[in-house]
Amino acid sequence: MRAAGAIAAVVLEDVAGFIRPGVTTQEVDEFAASRIRCYGAASAFLGYRGYPCSICISVNDEVVHGIAGSRRIQFGDIISLDVGVRYQGYVGDTAKTVAVGGCSLIAQKLIDVTTQALYEGISCALSGNRVVDISRAVQKHVEANGFTVVREFVGHGVGRTVHEEPQVPNFVESGKSSVKLRPGMTIAIEPMVNAGSAVVKVLSDGWTVVTQDGLPSAHMEHTVLITQSEPEILTCPENLPFALKAK
Ligand code: MF3
Ligand code: CO
Ligand code: CO
Repeated sequence: MRAAGAIAAVVLEDVAGFIRPGVTTQEVDEFAASRIRCYGAASAFLGYRGYPCSICISVNDEVVHGIAGSRRIQFGDIISLDVGVRYQGYVGDTAKTVAVGGCSLIAQKLIDVTTQALYEGISCALSGNRVVDISRAVQKHVEANGFTVVREFVGHGVGRTVHEEPQVPNFVESGKSSVKLRPGMTIAIEPMVNAGSAVVKVLSDGWTVVTQDGLPSAHMEHTVLITQSEPEILTCPENLPFALKAK
């Protein structure tokens, strides 16, 4: 899980560095595919329930699961990149939203709040806590800053497959029981945060999730290991196996 996580993290960094005005999302996806391959890994998304791309690229009001195509990235866009890789039978899953050149003040605040919400959630990923403690921390930080959390898509357990039990929502559902966290569990915590209303819809391509009001959305994700002490972020470039460093 550490190796898979590190590869996902490094690919995400590589892809973020490739983003610039004028490139198409198709070119970004092809670049991602080549980076995943050169680490000896495979996309965990390509072919998942028929998903047609190597990574998810979601622009501005697109929340998650954007499909690469002929759209050209522009200065001021915010791009959510979600990378899932399989390596030696294990999956690492990580995402972040990057601004292209510069973005609006509100989009930058959205990115900052989503990043902080992810870390607020991770800080609750402690043995003895419950999943709902993560959900509450994420939701509280987002709503205290005037933004909203998406309900329809959630974080998840991750291991040999990309989506495992338990679900890790970014909001608290009253009256719902919630799994206790134990050392050795690996979960993907992934706030999806909207600048306006929380309502989303799926485009006719069957994949791209967009905000209903057209306002921007941001997404940040880490795969995290529950330990006996602090949570360990597995999608961390520093853990890249030595033999893969020069790839
Ligand atoms: N965004 C999802 C996650 O991080 C996975 C995407 S599945 C795909 O859990 F099929 F859309 F790629
Ligand atoms: Co992901
Ligand atoms: Co995920």
